Amino acid sequence: MIVVWLIVDEAHIATIAVHPDFRRRGIARELMVTAIRECITHGAVSATLEVRQHNLGAITLYRQLGFEAVGRRPRYYQDTHEDAIIMTVADLTGFQNL
Ligand SMILES: CC(C)(COP(=O)(O)OP(=O)(O)OC[C@H]1O[C@@H](n2cnc3c(N)ncnc32)[C@H](O)[C@@H]1OP(=O)(O)O)[C@@H](O)C(=O)NCCC(=O)NCCS
Repeated sequence: MIVVWLIVDEAHIATIAVHPDFRRRGIARELMVTAIRECITHGAVSATLEVRQHNLGAITLYRQLGFEAVGRRPRYYQDTHEDAIIMTVADLTGFQNL
């Protein structure tokens, strides 16, 4: 599942998760590409998300899709007090080619 908010011209990926039995099959990548393309058709020009600093699997996925780390929210997550890394694609033009 994926939840994406379209806020004016920015697609904000609020959450994404794939059942553990079905991971590493490209499902999250497909969800991201499909949802962001849909946002583009409704006016999105950039995309952003927050990810736990130790969630290396998710960070790898996001980097492959062109997201770059642009900031950090210290101790953002209440359960583990991990930092959130803010990742952004400033220009979604390339998403049409993925
Ligand atoms: C992160 C998550 C959504 C990825 O879902 P997925 O369907 O397994 O991801 P994909 O199969 O599309 O992965 C695409 C690529 O991302 C990278 N990747 C994904 N999960 C990875 C992991 N655990 N470790 C390293 N790389 C990973 C790989 O490069 C992968 O390509 P490959 O399998 O050919 O090597 C899934 O692990 C999940 O639901 N995790 C728990 C919830 C979560 O952390 N959500 C993100 C919150 S910001």
